[in-house]
Amino acid sequence: MLYPDFKLGSGLVLGVLTISTLTSSVVTAAPTEPLASKACSREALLATAEKYVAAQNTGKLDDLQSLFSTGASGNFTYRENNQIASIQKSVISKALNVEYSKSTADTVACASYTELIALTPEPYVIATQIRHGLDAPETITMVDSIVATTGALFFNATATLGYFRSESWKPIENPSSRPSREVLQQAIDGYLDLFGGPNGATALSRLPFGSPCERVEGSRYINCTDGMPAGGLGGSKENSMRRYVIDEVMGSADVLCSFTAVGNIPDSHELRIENGKIRYVHTITLCAIDDGPDWGPTCKAAKEGKSTRR
Ligand SMILES: *[C@@H]1O[C@H](CO)[C@@H](O)[C@H](O)[C@H]1NC(C)=O
Ligand SMILES: *[C@@H]1O[C@H](CO)[C@@H](O)[C@H](O)[C@H]1NC(C)=O
Ligand SMILES: *[C@@H]1O[C@H](CO)[C@@H](O)[C@H](O)[C@H]1NC(C)=O
Repeated sequence: MLYPDFKLGSGLVLGVLTISTLTSSVVTAAPTEPLASKACSREALLATAEKYVAAQNTGKLDDLQSLFSTGASGNFTYRENNQIASIQKSVISKALNVEYSKSTADTVACASYTELIALTPEPYVIATQIRHGLDAPETITMVDSIVATTGALFFNATATLGYFRSESWKPIENPSSRPSREVLQQAIDGYLDLFGGPNGATALSRLPFGSPCERVEGSRYINCTDGMPAGGLGGSKENSMRRYVIDEVMGSADVLCSFTAVGNIPDSHELRIENGKIRYVHTITLCAIDDGPDWGPTCKAAKEGKSTRR
């Protein structure tokens, strides 16, 4: 499979992990905490992420909504697919049977990341970052989601679910085995930089791929190193709007962004580093949300409802 616009190898790459499942694949919250402020604890972030998953399951905002920052100093924002929107009319208002979820926590940014999959009543793969007030960690200032469903790039929620369930995302118990925040930041940025902008040429050197290293991009399952550009794609546009959730305990980093190197494309990339090497990459990517450049024939086929699987 080629990058339609760049004649590259396979698709996007990335992945982050978080797990907390209502039904089957559950991952436990990490036991210890790194440099968290007391006010913004890992436990509290993951508890809120659970409330978010519950809200998506029931289609009711109740418990979650009570945490939204409001009033004179309040500034709660909902963003869906990189655009400010009304949370009342969002996908969260639709009850979905959540089959799988995994959540990670960033106690420095006071934010969490949740990846979830539903197959019924409609298939969805959703990447959501929840940001809390740094001054008021008990409140939620933003819910920020990339929402993929039928028509999204390489979309097949059943296949994605199978791959996610076969992975092991456990907190890294030994603090000395955890990748540092800096390493995680460099890896996730290196990944996005591969596709364009001034840092493209050196990006690959910031990516310590392990062996094995698996990347799940939409419904595609690929060896991480397959199809990676060797020295950057040379495009002039850098992937933009990067929002991070970095979790040293999980060894993971997620970034929500616009895949500007290709087009106006909402995207989530997550990766996990084990023993200093990238072990997993997850990507959740839409087709372009405007009439501009897109993932070429691949996305066009998906938009027309054709299978894009190999
Ligand atoms: C309110 O939220 C928006 C979107 O996150 C942000 O751009 C803006 O700066 C915020 N305003 C205040 C006063 O915090
Ligand atoms: C989606 O993936 C599942 C599991 O791999 C497969 O059985 C199914 O045929 C796929 N659906 C489409 C439309 O490709
Ligand atoms: C992935 O590709 C690399 C480079 O070709 C190879 O060394 C490695 O064995 C492959 N891993 C798997 C699991 O296939």
